[in-house]
Parts: sequence; C-alpha cells; structure tokens
Amino acid sequence: MNALTINDLKKTYSNGVVALSGVSLAIPEGDFFALLGPNGAGKTTLIGITAGLVNKTSGTVSVFDYDIDRRPEKARTLLGLVGQEINFNPFENPIDIVVNQAGYYGIPRKVAIPRAERLLADLGLADKAREQSRTLSGGMKRRLMIARALVNEPRFLILDEPTAGVDVELRRGMWEYLSGLSARGLTVLLTTHYLEEAEQLAKHVAIINKGQIIVNGTMQDVLAMHDGDGAAENGFRGGRLEEVFLRLTAEK
Ligand SMILES: Nc1ncnc2c1ncn2[C@@H]1O[C@H](COP(=O)(O)OP(=O)(O)OP(=O)(O)O)[C@@H](O)[C@H]1O
Ligand SMILES: [Mg+2]
Repeated sequence: MNALTINDLKKTYSNGVVALSGVSLAIPEGDFFALLGPNGAGKTTLIGITAGLVNKTSGTVSVFDYDIDRRPEKARTLLGLVGQEINFNPFENPIDIVVNQAGYYGIPRKVAIPRAERLLADLGLADKAREQSRTLSGGMKRRLMIARALVNEPRFLILDEPTAGVDVELRRGMWEYLSGLSARGLTVLLTTHYLEEAEQLAKHVAIINKGQIIVNGTMQDVLAMHDGDGAAENGFRGGRLEEVFLRLTAEK
C-alpha cells in the first residue's frame, strides 16, 4: 500500500502563481522519502494540500487510500505534520501545546499527558516542558514541532525543513530520532535544503523544480546519475546528490 498517492496535482494560487503543474508521486508505506527542490519549487504547497491546509486546483491525493476530498478526517488522523513555519502559541508551554494537539484528535487527556511527557523527553525537552515556549531556542522549537506532530501516533509523518537553522550536533540527533521512527515502520516524507541529510536518510528521492517533478527514484539510482555525467572529472565540490541537484535545477 502507498502512504501517499498523488495524481496530476495542480495548484494555481489566486494571484496567478502556478505552484504545481501536474505532479504525480507515490510513496510506499514504510518509505523514507526526500522531496527536494529549490526555493519556490512547490514543496510546501504539495505538503499543504496533502495536509488539508491548502486547496488544490485539480488532481487527486490519497493518504493510505483515503482520498483527501472524500475522507478528509480519515486522512488527517493518519498524518503528522511538522510545518515549515513555527506555528505554536509562544505563550503556551510545550506540554500544553502537545496535549492540546492531542485534543484535536479526540485523545483523552489522561492518555495525552503521559504521551506528551514521553515525546518531549525523547526529543530532549523534558526540562523545558513547563516553560513558556517562546523561551526555547530555534532548534528546541523545531523539536517541539516534531513532538506535537507525533502525539496522534500518525502512520505517515511529513516534515517540511525540520532541521532549518538547527546546529550540526542537534541535526545529527534529529536524524537518529527520525531513523528510529522509520525503522519502527513510520512512513516519512522530508523536505530539506541540506542534501547531505537527504542522502543519509532517504530511500527514495524526488526533485521538484518549478512545480514539476524532474527526477524520482531510489537514492541509489539518483546518486548513480552523478557518476555517469562526468561531474567527477569536471571537479565537483559538493556531495553526489548536491551535484545531481545542481545540474538538474540549474537555470538554462
Ligand atoms: N499563499 C500563497 N499565495 C500566492 N503564492 C504562493 C503562496 N504560497 C506559495 N506561493 C508561491 O507558490 C510557489 C511555490 O511555493 P512553495 O512555498 O510551495 O515552495 P517551496 O518549494 O516550499 O519553497 P521553499 O524551499 O522556499 O520553502 C512560489 O512561487 C510561491 O511564491
Ligand atoms: Mg517550503
């Protein structure tokens, strides 16, 4: 079964910007999938539509076979979303933020409170659980976003640039945490501008540019594109994925 199936998805914003011009994508259950692309490529739009936050223009999207138009509540309960923007109330504390999120899914407080405590502890936020969240550092806020996204025990976790602005050590900690979730069967869709991160974590990768998927395959196959195109001889500087990415998304 696929965790996510997208068919010919199109989105034109009301100001006329075409963000997605016919995207099709399938993410098998259990996959760790990296969606890469330059700024403005359409990643957050695709994620917003999947999570029911943005209206699509046309096309279909299903989360575990639940069409987001016909069974939006089913699709929603199976999803966890770590959005690109920090969007919790800065005057609430992490425990309340995570427990209130559980409330949206109808999870009783007596279940939600210990679950929130455990998630915050797992993400290294135990000692911040009752501080106002505005006092957290940027990296801590990102981890709070992850704890909140996991409180409904989703089967599919979407992370839109979860490591933006997170220092190297914490980022590695986050990789380990995400790998652990993935090893336990959670399907993960990740966007990131740190291509090394995608290379480390993902089994499958798609590159989107100007609203269109330009590459979609196993990480192995996409990396192999690098080896065939003479990049090594041409003096490449970044990692292999970075070279493939730059080559495919370059302005002609
Ligand atoms: N609410 C909106 N109204 C109008 N245009 C929008 C809106 N949100 C995004 N866009 C436009 O849609 C296009 C795709 O944006 P999107 O945020 O999906 O890109 P992205 O791949 O997530 O980029 P980034 O890597 O910078 O986060 C861009 O041209 C953007 O300006
Ligand atoms: Mg984005």
